[in-house]
Amino acid sequence: MLNSRPMELRRYQTSDLDQVVALWKECGLTTAANNPYRDIQRKTADSPELFFVGEEQGKIVASCMAGFDGHRGWIYYLAVAPSLQGKGLGARIMRHAEKALLDSGCPKIDLMVRKTNTQMLDFYSKIGYQSDPVVVMSKRLYDDEASD
Ligand SMILES: CC(C)(COP(=O)(O)OP(=O)(O)OC[C@H]1O[C@@H](n2cnc3c(N)ncnc32)[C@H](O)[C@@H]1OP(=O)(O)O)[C@@H](O)C(=O)NCCC(=O)NCCS
Repeated sequence: MLNSRPMELRRYQTSDLDQVVALWKECGLTTAANNPYRDIQRKTADSPELFFVGEEQGKIVASCMAGFDGHRGWIYYLAVAPSLQGKGLGARIMRHAEKALLDSGCPKIDLMVRKTNTQMLDFYSKIGYQSDPVVVMSKRLYDDEASD
């Protein structure tokens, strides 16, 4: 897809906080189990170099939180402002994150899509991802709200 949007891709910075959280809320990415402020706090303490935003004229219009655990790369909080979706920005910020992971030595990227978010499977397929026959299991070690 041709992309003529002037979106600048860069690392997340502290002053982006409220806009990024607003973007995630607008895109339906926040849940009762995930405190976005805590998620950002943990990410910036751990690997801020892999947390990206897209900015147009001072406004945060896209985000992508990548991670590399030494074995696999991961993608979280991929979002494009609803009014700008379908213009190639999601694919662009994903390519940016993939390049950063590759440069870190990461050989493969995994990501999780909520079962209810079926449209995302089409998006990720379009940009080269495949569905693997795995079940994701998890165990919560502490609850953000309970630990306040
Ligand atoms: C997922 C998301 C980031 C995609 O961003 P986007 O900027 O709209 O996507 P792009 O314009 O870069 O699309 C890239 C390709 O995927 C396709 N695509 C995008 N969204 C799609 C959808 N919902 N269904 C099917 N195909 C889709 C586009 O048509 C395009 O294909 P093309 O290159 O053949 O034209 C955006 O829809 C979003 O923020 N959604 C809400 C948040 C979310 O659910 N995030 C993912 C959590 S797992």
